[in-house]
Amino acid sequence: GAPVEVDISKLEEGQMIRVEWRGKPVWVVRRSQAILDELPTHDDRLRDPQATEPQQPAYAQNQYRSVKPEIFLAVGICTHLGCSPTYLPDSFSEQVSGVPAGFFCPCHGSKFDMAGRVFQGVPAPLNLVIPPHMFLNDNTILVG
Ligand code: FES
Repeated sequence: GAPVEVDISKLEEGQMIRVEWRGKPVWVVRRSQAILDELPTHDDRLRDPQATEPQQPAYAQNQYRSVKPEIFLAVGICTHLGCSPTYLPDSFSEQVSGVPAGFFCPCHGSKFDMAGRVFQGVPAPLNLVIPPHMFLNDNTILVG
């Protein structure tokens, strides 16, 4: 499949754009500073907080798992059995106490934070996959 361009000029904090790349859903989310500040505080509840999985792009092997801290991309497919997790920007704390926003997989209850990092005690074995991507300019991302 061809690379896909994503225009993020109208993407506001907390919002998600969904695009399709190679038949897979790819999410693009603009994270707020409050979300970025919260991310390190629940590392001890994650399976792989440093995102050391070798299949991840090198530019996603940092605390935010992203090129730019505020812009997060992930393949929107649960690493358990491939369902599509639900983005919960306001009610994720019902799934994981004290964590304001994240992704919840309705199939078997896997939970991922706003960097796509999987929480302990759920079936998904790995963090969400970060697709290959680059910024063409401040408002345009090329996925693929
Ligand atoms: Fe997501 Fe099983 S497919 S928890």
